[in-house]
Amino acid sequence: MVRLPELSVAPMEGVTTFPMRLWLTMTSQPPAMTSPFLKVTRAFPESALPDTFIPELMQLREALPYELVPQFITGEPEQFLRAAAFIPPTLAPVIEINCGCPSPNSMGRYAGSGMLSDPEFFARSIETLSQELGPGRLAVKMRLGVQSDAEFPALLAALTALPLARLTVHARTRADGYRGQARWTEVQRAASGTRLPVFASGDVWGWTSWQRLQSTAPDIRGAMIGRGLLRNPWIFCELQSGTKTRMPALVFVNALFCYALLQEIFLRDAGKLFQRVVRGRLGSICGVDFGAWEKATVELTNLVFGVPFLLLQKDSLKPRTLSPVAFSRLRFLWSYLRSSLPEPLAAPGLMRCRQAPDFFELLLETIEDAGLETIEVSHQEAWDAQFAGLRG
Ligand SMILES: Cc1cc2nc3c(=O)[nH]c(=O)nc-3n(C[C@H](O)[C@H](O)[C@H](O)COP(=O)(O)O)c2cc1C
Repeated sequence: MVRLPELSVAPMEGVTTFPMRLWLTMTSQPPAMTSPFLKVTRAFPESALPDTFIPELMQLREALPYELVPQFITGEPEQFLRAAAFIPPTLAPVIEINCGCPSPNSMGRYAGSGMLSDPEFFARSIETLSQELGPGRLAVKMRLGVQSDAEFPALLAALTALPLARLTVHARTRADGYRGQARWTEVQRAASGTRLPVFASGDVWGWTSWQRLQSTAPDIRGAMIGRGLLRNPWIFCELQSGTKTRMPALVFVNALFCYALLQEIFLRDAGKLFQRVVRGRLGSICGVDFGAWEKATVELTNLVFGVPFLLLQKDSLKPRTLSPVAFSRLRFLWSYLRSSLPEPLAAPGLMRCRQAPDFFELLLETIEDAGLETIEVSHQEAWDAQFAGLRG
């Protein structure tokens, strides 16, 4: 039976897609990740999984240093099994079912959190999947219930006797969405009251909260990091070493540029990106090392623009630009990341940029004006209320 690593990247639809996973390997090399869900229906996927869903288990097999668990979402166990048949155990030792997605669309189809709305259906479905896939192959990711934590014990009871590879509890209900604090005591209830390998999901933002989680829920096997990796993409270094990550400002700028470039090339021609990974030119840890980021940036600018260069000065990117989609992904990351940066970078000006060259120009200008030679990426509790939906 596979023993999944203690810490891993949480699935985040539209966020932890392949370019983000590759970039996280470069920033802080998480040992394991779970793909965002693939929505499975009677008609989809028809004869194979999409090429870009889990390339790490297909064309990039063994090219990257992390374990990947694919996740499916569906309210129909038979469709889950049909899709699972595209990835034999030799490729995917563990496959996860999403029982947490709060979207009304999932709810209506008894998928995601919708599975939790009928405890008997939930119990039957998970038991069928566990039996059909075999011991140690099914992972379940769930919320505490639909409306209230009081639903959790009955839902949990349905799982206790099953040989699951992992039970991850996102310690909120569907009604909570992503608001409020994750209730880690409920995760501890699952970990101490069952023999399942229980993992926590929710509100691990860095070393301090990871320590707090371990003392509140000492029986968990580990945790998944979701929005915490957006607030600090170097979080896995911090969680391993217990120290904050500080880097030269130009490392920070070029690492961020690499993120945008990875998004761009993935959108334009994912096959070319895969080739570079297979050849070992991308996909190793760069951490805070300037030379390593220099190599990666040169590789990626060459791939995207046909010219190798670094972002060293304000106008380095002009007149070239990035597509609106790649830039919107960078802006999304920035909307979280800025909460962990020195004050001048957290200011709203950078959020207002509409194009990549303006963004990077203002970023370099702000760094220069503030005299920031190095940048520490460090969780600031003051922002937590905002991310918990308690303050606008
Ligand atoms: C943008 C976004 C997309 C998400 N997509 C998924 C998903 O595809 N599958 C899933 O099981 N959970 C998904 N989640 C939930 C996260 O995996 C995680 O359980 C939740 O965000 C709580 O953890 P955190 O506080 O570390 O973010 C998503 C969360 C966010 C914010």
